[in-house]
Parts: sequence; structure tokens; C-alpha cells
Amino acid sequence: MSADRPKRILIATHNAGKLKEFAALLAPLGIEAVGAGAMGLAEPAESADDFAGNARLKALAAARAAGIAALADDSGLCVAALGGGPGVFSARYAAGDYGAAFARIIAACAAAGEWRARFVCALCLAQPDGTTATFIGQADGTVAREAGGAGGFGYDPVFVPDGYEKTYAELGSTVKDAISHRARAFAQVAARLASSAVAGRTVGG
Ligand code: IMP
Repeated sequence: MSADRPKRILIATHNAGKLKEFAALLAPLGIEAVGAGAMGLAEPAESADDFAGNARLKALAAARAAGIAALADDSGLCVAALGGGPGVFSARYAAGDYGAAFARIIAACAAAGEWRARFVCALCLAQPDGTTATFIGQADGTVAREAGGAGGFGYDPVFVPDGYEKTYAELGSTVKDAISHRARAFAQVAARLASSAVAGRTVGG
């Protein structure tokens, strides 16, 4: 790791679950995760039609508003039986009622006899000068026959990653942080942060 690795990165999310995961991923690097809510930043509309585009617009807006490097996540669950949906509409598909969303997804999978699903995460690291770098991670798996587990957030109770028989929510944060779509994208960010050429421009304090 470079000696001029950043000490703080603004995490451009108002999602407490994501912020917690990034704090855990950044802590071993000695980097503090600062939430957009704590800095009073507004949330831009997610108007792009793919994960990378939304991550980029969120990271750029945050970096420009705060004047420090920002990391944004756009992620979601892509269900084969829903033609890849809800995808970029994952948060809007649930509209705050994840129990109802789980029921709709499980019913669609049962009707189609198709249970494959994929979590996708796009991470964008943006600088106040407009420089961006985007990284994609994904995790393949299946939709659980019934929701299970109380850990995590969002769709964690209905996603069983390949190689496991439990949901993300049942596996818990230690396992999830090692294998998830977000962890896979973050591994690429960590490698980038190790580069002094980039890290030297991302020091936030
Ligand atoms: P957005 O990226 O803020 O548009 O929201 C993505 C949405 O996808 C979240 O609100 C969750 O519903 C879902 N999502 C993304 N990543 C995860 C995850 O790791 N576990 C569970 N749900 C997730």
C-alpha cells in the first residue's frame, strides 16, 4: 500500500446498509468511510439505465459537492425469471416493502421454474476534478424458495450465492463481505487505492 493512501473517502449513499459494508471493507485499509448523509449531501436522481452510469453520476455529484474523493455504489438483484429485473430498479421495486418484493420474486421464479439470479455492483471512485474510475463486481446464485435470515439489508434474505446453501442474510456479514458482488467490486477499488498515482489525489483529510 502507498504511504499517501487516502484517510477518508466520502461514501455517496444514504443507504445505512451499504455505508456499514463500506466502513467494514475500508477499515482494514486504514480508511474512514464518511456517509453522504453526515455531510448533508442531496441524493441525485438515478437517471442512467445501467449500474455503471448510476454509480458514476452519484460519485461525481458527491465529489463535486464535497470537494473530496467520493465512492458511489449502484447495485441490485437481477432475476432470470424477471428478464434480469428488477436490476437498476431494485430499490424502487421494493419501495420499502421488502417482504412484498420477496413474495413477488419467489412467485415469478416458481411460475417460470427458473431460480437463477445475480447480484451486480458498480462502484465509481470520483475526484472533484471530474476524474472517474468504475469497477463492476457480480455474484451468481439462486433465489431462495422462502426468505431466510435477519442479517444484512435489502434482498439479502432471498439470495443464495453459488457454493452455499444459506442466504446472504443467514450467512452473515463476515461471509458476505468476503464473497459478495460488492466485495468483488471493492477488491478492484482497493487495488486502485494502492496506486499512489490515484491515492495521492484522493486524500480527504
Ligand atoms: P441503489 O443502488 O441505491 O439504487 O439501491 C440498490 C438496491 O439494490 C438496494 O436498495 C437493495 O434493495 C438492493 N441491493 C443492492 N445490494 C444489495 C445487497 O448487498 N444486499 C441486498 N440488497 C441489495
